[in-house]
Amino acid sequence: MNPFELAHSALMSCNIDEKIELTNKLYFDSLNEDLNYKINHHLHKIKEPGRPPKPNLVRFQNVPKRDNSNVGMIKTIHAICHIEFNAINLALDSVYRFRSMPEKFYKDWIRVAFEEAKHFKLINNYFNELGYNYGDFSAHNGLWTMTYETDYDVLSRMALVPRVLEARGLDVTPKIQKKFKNSKFTKMSDILDIIFADEIGHVKIGNYWFNSLCKQRGLEPLNTFDKLLKKHVGPKLRGPFNFEARKLADFSQTELDYLISS
Ligand SMILES: [Fe+2]
Repeated sequence: MNPFELAHSALMSCNIDEKIELTNKLYFDSLNEDLNYKINHHLHKIKEPGRPPKPNLVRFQNVPKRDNSNVGMIKTIHAICHIEFNAINLALDSVYRFRSMPEKFYKDWIRVAFEEAKHFKLINNYFNELGYNYGDFSAHNGLWTMTYETDYDVLSRMALVPRVLEARGLDVTPKIQKKFKNSKFTKMSDILDIIFADEIGHVKIGNYWFNSLCKQRGLEPLNTFDKLLKKHVGPKLRGPFNFEARKLADFSQTELDYLISS
């Protein structure tokens, strides 16, 4: 079977249940070695991936403010749910878009997509238990925008999506988790334990492929990352950084020193 066609169908599906079902199917096909990664398939640019009509996507500045009140916590749960939904698309796009990579690359990103779908379901189910639905609040499209902007090269994608956006999740999760632990939404704290452990693995996968591509192209990793960061994000990354989690995700000491000094 053609993994790129399957990833594309899942990516473009606007129905959440169908997207998850197709993502799970892709994962089990990959475990069963039913996929032919050498197959040729026409490649499309994807400005908008499949997503349900809601949430309304707004500018980052217009995303609802979140405080420590009950409503604020509900909005935070929605924001995390939205991140996980986007993360499914992010991983599927990496499977679909970049050709002639080793088989391990595709298997890695198919597994990431499967785990992101699991995260989405965990949060969405809890959100439903609380009487809310994904889409009840507006959200921003920053994650997909970076995915779209890095569709020209797998090295840029690996540098900026897992190593910047997903790694940022590692920085901020413990603080958010603490807030949930001290609230009536303690179940979120347990869900975040599962998500956090998986996300370390996803950033690790991003680091592995970023470094492997640099090596293959004879590029110095830190300098290459610095250039790509300046091109797509800005002069420096915002801290504070979770060095312990970043180390577990295979950021080198040189890179951690660079984060503090840049
Ligand atoms: Fe996730």
